Amino acid sequence: MTGPADGAGLLQARFGIAAPCEAVAVPDGVAALLDRRVARRYRDEPVTDALLDLLLAAAQSAPTKSDLQQYSVVVLRDPVKIKRIADWIGTMDWIATAPVFLIWCGDMRRGQRLCELHGMAHANNNLDTFLNTAVDATLAMGGFIAAAEAAGLGTCPISYVRNHIEKVAPLLGLPSGVYPLAGLTLGWPAFRRPVSMRLPPAVVVHRERYDDTALPEHIAAYDDRRRAREPLAAAGLKNNDVYPPRDGVGWSENCARQLSVPERYGFAAWLRTRGFDLA
Ligand SMILES: Cc1cc2nc3c(=O)[nH]c(=O)nc-3n(C[C@H](O)[C@H](O)[C@H](O)COP(=O)(O)O)c2cc1C
Repeated sequence: MTGPADGAGLLQARFGIAAPCEAVAVPDGVAALLDRRVARRYRDEPVTDALLDLLLAAAQSAPTKSDLQQYSVVVLRDPVKIKRIADWIGTMDWIATAPVFLIWCGDMRRGQRLCELHGMAHANNNLDTFLNTAVDATLAMGGFIAAAEAAGLGTCPISYVRNHIEKVAPLLGLPSGVYPLAGLTLGWPAFRRPVSMRLPPAVVVHRERYDDTALPEHIAAYDDRRRAREPLAAAGLKNNDVYPPRDGVGWSENCARQLSVPERYGFAAWLRTRGFDLA
């Protein structure tokens, strides 16, 4: 267990700066959150049903908008199915090494069925409901991730299931009104990756009023810190087929390389074919 003495070290690892916040005692549960990282390789060891069910119960304990609980999760243990998704994605071979693959889904269908069961018309097929389903599914996945880490397990969210949504949805038998938000690998980590450095709180946390006037200076310093700890390999940069690969690219430029090329622009159209009005 991590005690208060490790707080400064955990914050230094997370932000790459000596004292991003005031020194206070760090409770064990908070220390675990500060120390979290994705796991992308798993030992060949099973996760028992009892433990998985416990983690799923923790996920269901997350807050949910208006207590509506508008999400579902599909648990995959069948290695053939998991490998099929891994093969569709093609570039993330660690998915197939995970003994469990969970697909977190936004679910408007259950609410529609509740209305039907009570003889009422569902009048909330709109963008707000879509957002609420995504938030509920995300919070549940977050709770699951924290619970898994507490049990010594590792996870990695996989948004790439949405790159193959037209095949993933039928594989899982997702009905109209239900869409995959993200996959999540689960297993006993083969090793722990280094902690991934985050933006300084000064960029993300705004006091009383939103203010990003100092963004360029903060980002330049953050790029330098990340470059010094873990330089980006030219071959692994985003959209190397669009922009020439080169050494020395920082985090922010790599983000721009990703965000300047449209990703999954067919998603809204697919959702509309699956019963979402998004109005
Ligand atoms: C919604 C979401 C989707 C993600 N999708 C993928 C993915 O498809 N493949 C992958 O390897 N990692 C994926 N990740 C993991 C991120 O790359 C990872 O969280 C990030 O690099 C920071 O690393 P850390 O989680 O270890 O701090 C995803 C994370 C989130 C929250």
